[in-house]
Amino acid sequence: MAQLETAAGMLHVKVWRGGQHGVFQDYELPRRDNQTVLDVATHIQRHLDPTLSYRYACRVGMCGSCAMTVNGVARWTCRTHVSRVARDGRIELAPLSNLPIVKDLVTDMAPFFDKWQQAQGRFTGPASRQDPVARVSPASPARRAADAGIECIGCGVCYASCDVVSWKPQFLGPAALNRAWTLVNDERDTAGARRLAAVAGDAGCHACHTQGSCTLRCPKGIAPTAAIAGLKRVTARAALRGELTGAAAPEETAGALPGVTEATP
Ligand code: SF4
Ligand code: SF4
Ligand code: FES
Repeated sequence: MAQLETAAGMLHVKVWRGGQHGVFQDYELPRRDNQTVLDVATHIQRHLDPTLSYRYACRVGMCGSCAMTVNGVARWTCRTHVSRVARDGRIELAPLSNLPIVKDLVTDMAPFFDKWQQAQGRFTGPASRQDPVARVSPASPARRAADAGIECIGCGVCYASCDVVSWKPQFLGPAALNRAWTLVNDERDTAGARRLAAVAGDAGCHACHTQGSCTLRCPKGIAPTAAIAGLKRVTARAALRGELTGAAAPEETAGALPGVTEATP
């Protein structure tokens, strides 16, 4: 069914075109009821300029691929209504900050996901397929701490909003550290001291300034700041106990901290 044009008429949109040294280009398109920012990019590509590059998949806030900078703020665009962000009938669309630009609104997410790997952001289990399914109590503090960060969709909004990533590009960033914290609290995981060593270095959790832009901007309501605070506590404690020494070698250290189950308060 065709949507109605609003009385406000037209929307004026500035869109970043090109790579790192691109420029903003102006477009004008009709305002629609319930129009999202992603709808705007789609309208431009389908009706005004088919060379525009942008990224999306699910359109319902699940895949994390549609994030852009909207009027200077990183947001998911499929769940952001134009009516919330337009100023005097204008919006500005740019690619996410802190990531290399591929073209137009598309950034290269490789550095973002590489840091998940560097933070040991993958589950390391002790069981084989012959073992019974592990039972984790939904009420345990560790499980609740893991649950608090588990709905991350990898959109990169927090990463693009983080000043420390801008100043110190090697900083692992809020999403990778949040993922590490969910695994630290996963009672089945065996990476233990290896993961803590991975997030305890100069580019890890202790580089975070705790100002909370990541938590403020996360569209899923996740609080990476709290996760990072948890990592700071357990890594400091492990370092004082000498448990991180030599923890970088996976086969020697996996499971070296089996008792790490401290949860966020
Ligand atoms: S709280 Fe830490 S991780 Fe989050 S935006 Fe600030 S410096 Fe980055
Ligand atoms: S923590 Fe939030 S903002 Fe960061 S990648 Fe995950 S869903 Fe996106
Ligand atoms: S298109 Fe999937 S989260 Fe926006």
